[in-house]
Amino acid sequence: MNKIIIAVDGYSSSGKSTMARQLAQRIGYVYVDSGAMYRAVTLYALRHGMATPGKGVDVERLVNALPDIKIGFSVTPDGGQHTLLNGEDVENEIRGMEVSGLVSPVAVIPAVRHALVAMQQAYGRDKGIVMDGRDIGTTVFPDAEMKVFVEASPEVRARRRVLELQEKGAEVDYDSVLANIRERDHIDTTREESPLRMAGDAVLLNNDNMTREEQMEWLINLFNERARNN
Ligand code: DC
Repeated sequence: MNKIIIAVDGYSSSGKSTMARQLAQRIGYVYVDSGAMYRAVTLYALRHGMATPGKGVDVERLVNALPDIKIGFSVTPDGGQHTLLNGEDVENEIRGMEVSGLVSPVAVIPAVRHALVAMQQAYGRDKGIVMDGRDIGTTVFPDAEMKVFVEASPEVRARRRVLELQEKGAEVDYDSVLANIRERDHIDTTREESPLRMAGDAVLLNNDNMTREEQMEWLINLFNERARNN
């Protein structure tokens, strides 16, 4: 079977990253979490005083600093993936509320998007990759052989996110998580540069009422069909 590119797009906290990572593991493909790349840039901006909670982002300083920001991934022995910012493992920090609250304004900056999209396209050169994000099927890999668009209601996503953060020991409140999800949905879908939208040739997956096992079976079936025909 030929290797293909799999693009998984959808709303924040729709479970797409877990799903994409597990799919990659099952089929022996490389997995890239593009949202983690936007989060790592946001963390860099926070640490260097270029982004301040409640105040926003100093776009000019951040754009000038882009050449100094190196993002990578390391694979853990249990098959997990950790994001590296200039060589430092920042996986936990990029998932916190501080980064979550500022990542959307960072992700609307065209120069940030151009830099990260170029890196993402380089990852896909040899195919055999599963990448998840917002614009993977529309902008990063418009010719991807398999495109999935994941959706779930904001309430279901907020409940999942709260559980995920609590498992990591963070103190969270459902209402502020739900408000953050709604705000990010709004920014992600209305921004000018690469807004979140379903590619014309993507397949819709609403997972409100699906178990992880059902989702995986659905994905594997679609993968087998697409890989056979390419
Ligand atoms: O998937 P996530 O919640 O970790 O993504 C974090 C933010 O990054 C989200 O608010 C939108 C942005 N993002 C993006 O604009 N384009 C992508 N390909 C991936 C994420």
